[in-house]
Amino acid sequence: MRTPMLAGNWKMNKTIPEAVALAEALAKVEIPAGREAVVCPSFVCLVPVKKALGSSKIQLGCQNMHFEAKGAFTGETSAEMLKSAEVSHVIIGHSERRALFGETDAVVNRKVKAVLAAGLKVILCVGEVLAEREKGVQNDVVKTQLTGGLDGVPAADLARVIIAYEPVWAIGTGKTATPEDADAMHAFIRGTLAALANAQVAEATRILYGGSANDANIDSLMAKPNIDGALIGGAALKPESFTRMIQYKA
Ligand code: 13P
Repeated sequence: MRTPMLAGNWKMNKTIPEAVALAEALAKVEIPAGREAVVCPSFVCLVPVKKALGSSKIQLGCQNMHFEAKGAFTGETSAEMLKSAEVSHVIIGHSERRALFGETDAVVNRKVKAVLAAGLKVILCVGEVLAEREKGVQNDVVKTQLTGGLDGVPAADLARVIIAYEPVWAIGTGKTATPEDADAMHAFIRGTLAALANAQVAEATRILYGGSANDANIDSLMAKPNIDGALIGGAALKPESFTRMIQYKA
């Protein structure tokens, strides 16, 4: 049994007062039993958001992390710093990090290992760009990202890895993958995990969908057997839509 997860990636949005207001609104939301909710604000908002969440079951994640433990890495943030801010989940390898900040599978792999070594949980993002889907090579692209990103990660540590399939052409565009297409890719990812680790790990790993997921399409996405949750951008920035998504109808 995989516990569904609804995770909000706030990206580079919200000042501290705005982030606190959103967290305060979400803190009042009833999280249905057997579901997990996570919010991933910017670094500067982590501590105030955690405080605003109070005793809510909503967990705190962030959007990036450096793989080195400490030292002369100007502008970067370490695992221990994130732990001291009570972060539990770290998004690694988001397509925006890959495309805009040059993160390769090798860098993603170092980050994944550093997150796991620190005892935190990873949300590892994979997904093809439009040209790759049009060429029909999306499975190869995603397999390479998974194999590279998880290289050398022991099967036992995969219990703390969540995969997010985010087709780049669906991010922020209003174009969602159809639930059928997303489910097919999720099944492919599960098969790849079985080959990389074993069938038990593949069965237990949660695979989230991301890319224009919203309050109108969440029910049909969650109805698919291989879709275990969503990584949500724009629709996570408003309390009403994120709340509706947490409370999707099974
Ligand atoms: P949107 O939901 O805004 O398309 O963003 C998806 C995403 O990139 C989440 O990480």
